[in-house]
Amino acid sequence: MSLSRLEANGVPMSSITLERSATLASAIASALAEARERTLTLVRPVSDADLRLQHDPLMSPIIWDLGHIAAFEELWLTRNLDGVIEFSEMPGLFNPFEHPRRVRGALVLPSLHDVIDTTEDIRRRVLALLHQVDLASHNPLLHDGYVYRMVLQHEYQHDETILQTLQLKQGEAYRAPRAWSPPPASLRLTPGDMVRFSGGEVVIGTHDRSAAYDNERPAHTVAVKPFAIDVTPVTNDQFVQFIDAGGYGDPRWWSDAGRRWLEESGCRAPKHWWSSGAGWTVRVMDRESVIDPQRPVCHVCYHEAEAFARWAGKRLPTEIEWEVAASWDASAGRRLDFPWGSEPASHLLANVDQLAFDTAPIGSYPRNVSPLGCYGMIGDVWEWTSSDFAAWPGFTAYPYAEYSQVFFGNEYKVLRGGSWATRPGAIRNSFRNWDYPIRRQIFSGFRCAADD
Ligand SMILES: [Fe+2]
Repeated sequence: MSLSRLEANGVPMSSITLERSATLASAIASALAEARERTLTLVRPVSDADLRLQHDPLMSPIIWDLGHIAAFEELWLTRNLDGVIEFSEMPGLFNPFEHPRRVRGALVLPSLHDVIDTTEDIRRRVLALLHQVDLASHNPLLHDGYVYRMVLQHEYQHDETILQTLQLKQGEAYRAPRAWSPPPASLRLTPGDMVRFSGGEVVIGTHDRSAAYDNERPAHTVAVKPFAIDVTPVTNDQFVQFIDAGGYGDPRWWSDAGRRWLEESGCRAPKHWWSSGAGWTVRVMDRESVIDPQRPVCHVCYHEAEAFARWAGKRLPTEIEWEVAASWDASAGRRLDFPWGSEPASHLLANVDQLAFDTAPIGSYPRNVSPLGCYGMIGDVWEWTSSDFAAWPGFTAYPYAEYSQVFFGNEYKVLRGGSWATRPGAIRNSFRNWDYPIRRQIFSGFRCAADD
């Protein structure tokens, strides 16, 4: 369900505005139902005991995610809906700041049955209010349904977090409810090939106030030097060449922080890979297979991405370079919301939306190409960039500082583009994700850049 497809263009006539509001409200109600159905589809194969277990210190028990999704919805779509913003995060059991992830396993958590009852009760109240609020209001929280899209994206993003947890699941592997397979590669792309941006002034970020997060705003002009960037994400085959060349053991390719991580972690391959004599095997949920050389490498941390790039005689792109490569249409002198244009993301255009449960070989989505000529920038794997997570010039926290602002600084690196586990409503060219440079539980890969 794409909200943007159901919306008419705004016309300043009250009856049309009202009608538009009603259409938008029903589109929102359908999208909320669809989001919940997906969350439940993901957790249905998991036993009650496994939902309550903390499978990894980095991840919450899944039942906590479910309770938190509902509590966030109640906070923003009932309490904060039309008036003073009372809390930016809900107080109590499901407040992420009161209970950091590593301790959530020790919390007294409700049963799945109780959580479902609570979510259904909240949803009933949310829907009753939805049909009373004025979505044409000047209040930016309500205008164009912004707060509803924020809550929808929050659920979509937690779905991806739940999938990270399920990949880390202890005991029997998660039986993934696969619904489709990525198409076979129809384009012959050569990993490592680069395209060139000749430099100039470009627009980065967005002014959108209907779906974009505060950290994506405002749109601003930046002068960008010429650079080259890989046409595809780095593949498993390329990464095996790095391993075979002794890349993990050669200090020349690693930063000081990277060398410290190598020593502490002892890692010598991407997470979920193991050497099986004849080659490398990878596990995705309940499926083990010999690595496919043509798929993007996944589950590497920033340090591994950076070391590979040095070994290859390249570097990681800055996030501005990444966004230029994904969004800048030089011939028209404008930015695009998606590499292919304005059509919302879907699993037919790019490897997104979870239910393929894997990356796809490069060249599988011929329409997933940017004006510059980069493939696969949306979907498959989040791509590490060399940039710290910082505010765009002119940034204002909205509607709460705890989404982005409290994370600005040099601790986090920015990732772009979404992964196979990202829902289409939570990805676009301007979307910014961030994580610690040592993290590998995320569905993360990268592509390289170079000075021109
Ligand atoms: Fe959250």
